[in-house]
Amino acid sequence: GPCVKAHLKTIPPLCARVLLLCVKRFLEPFRLSQKTLQDISSRLTQDMIKGLGRHSHHKAPVKMLPTFVRATPDGTEKGDFLALDLGGTNFRVLHVRVNEDEKSVLKMDSEICAIPQEIMTGTGEQLFDHIAACLGTFLEKQGLKEQVLPLGFTFSFPCEQKEIDKSILIRWTKGFNCSGVEGRDVVQLLKEAVRRQGDYEIGTVAMVNDTVGTMMSCGYRDQSCEIGMIIGTGTNACYMEEMCNVKRVEGEGGRMCINTEWGGFGDDGSLRDIQTQFDLEVDRSSINPGVHIFEKMISGMYLGEIVRLLLVKMTEDKILFSGKVSEKLRTSGAFLTKFISEIEHGSFQRILSDLGLQWSTADLRAVHLICDTVSSRSAQLCAAALAAVANRIRTNRGLDHLDTTVGVDGTVFKKHPTAELRSMVHKLAPKCTLKFIVSEDGSGKGAAMVTAVAQRIASVSCLIKPHYATLFKH
Ligand code: BGC
Repeated sequence: GPCVKAHLKTIPPLCARVLLLCVKRFLEPFRLSQKTLQDISSRLTQDMIKGLGRHSHHKAPVKMLPTFVRATPDGTEKGDFLALDLGGTNFRVLHVRVNEDEKSVLKMDSEICAIPQEIMTGTGEQLFDHIAACLGTFLEKQGLKEQVLPLGFTFSFPCEQKEIDKSILIRWTKGFNCSGVEGRDVVQLLKEAVRRQGDYEIGTVAMVNDTVGTMMSCGYRDQSCEIGMIIGTGTNACYMEEMCNVKRVEGEGGRMCINTEWGGFGDDGSLRDIQTQFDLEVDRSSINPGVHIFEKMISGMYLGEIVRLLLVKMTEDKILFSGKVSEKLRTSGAFLTKFISEIEHGSFQRILSDLGLQWSTADLRAVHLICDTVSSRSAQLCAAALAAVANRIRTNRGLDHLDTTVGVDGTVFKKHPTAELRSMVHKLAPKCTLKFIVSEDGSGKGAAMVTAVAQRIASVSCLIKPHYATLFKH
């Protein structure tokens, strides 16, 4: 409006340049050199070893959880499955068909079911009743209530898995905090809730982390997909590890998918040197202070808040917006993570006016720079972590060079330029060539895939147990 223009004229160019310099100074702690990133990558490598160790895993910040997924798809899987997907942006129920002849995984139907805030932080019983009720309604609508279909449950939280269908929640993350679930078997809680509904049944259940679902859904197409990565509301990765290194599970042959839970990297203070005052503040004001430190520097649930805190501080220091902090900008959560990518794509006058701010052109450039810097740090940190995983697979196999595929999902990955992530992984893991496949609905289709692979293996292994090891694909 006119008032903005008037305001613009009052800022002489020199002043604008000084302002940008101040902003750059402020952002310095967010810029990580390649050497620092290399160092972060090595720290994660050490933590991964700690997480895998029989005696060190109890205290390990990076949990390296066995998933009991021992093989990626071989293309012979088939059948109809149900899938539940909890822990991303939405809760969803799906009906999935795995078609052997066409090598396709089809989403027959799916439905989003909102989880109200009071349920996210209510009791576990309420949560699982809600889930079971949504599933019931879905089955009713699809005319599937009389069938007993196997179910893949994508539950994207750190779980100590005892078997493919026994999975104990270690802790909630990402805004969930239901009482009475931590330390309990989630499959059991689901089954009990289904029983309480009383008017339908479910078949065998397979528990799946979203990273695993992502890897497996890409694996039906590309059988060299051995890493799954999520950069969405939260962040995490899984990969195929040699069984002989998985000390917590019996058996030496073949491989098992390990859910790294790299979001917990730094929970022992190991990232303290790169945490800025804004990262510390985001952690302090979260519902789970002290945990998932790495995730809080990277993922969608927190990036917007980091930017907001930067904006507030720089305005208070009279660097931005003529020193006027709006009421709205002071509200936690008011700066959504999706604004960052919108701003990076150049359209953002409306975002700022909705936040009750008045800006000059210099402010606009500054805001752009702030968003760029925060999202680029996220990409670089992810690259450092991914490089550690890729290098681990390579050294495990004694290879000079590793070619492998990463299945990826998550809004932060999809909405931001990925060139930076790719080129940084390449710099940090020069002996690995990674191909990225963006998973389409990994959490849904992948859960069905895991269930299908588990069934395939179970049906063969009860016939010819000794040959079990030959089923490992890689
Ligand atoms: C959870 C992981 C999950 C990731 C991505 C994290 O908060 O701990 O289990 O894979 O978010 O959704």
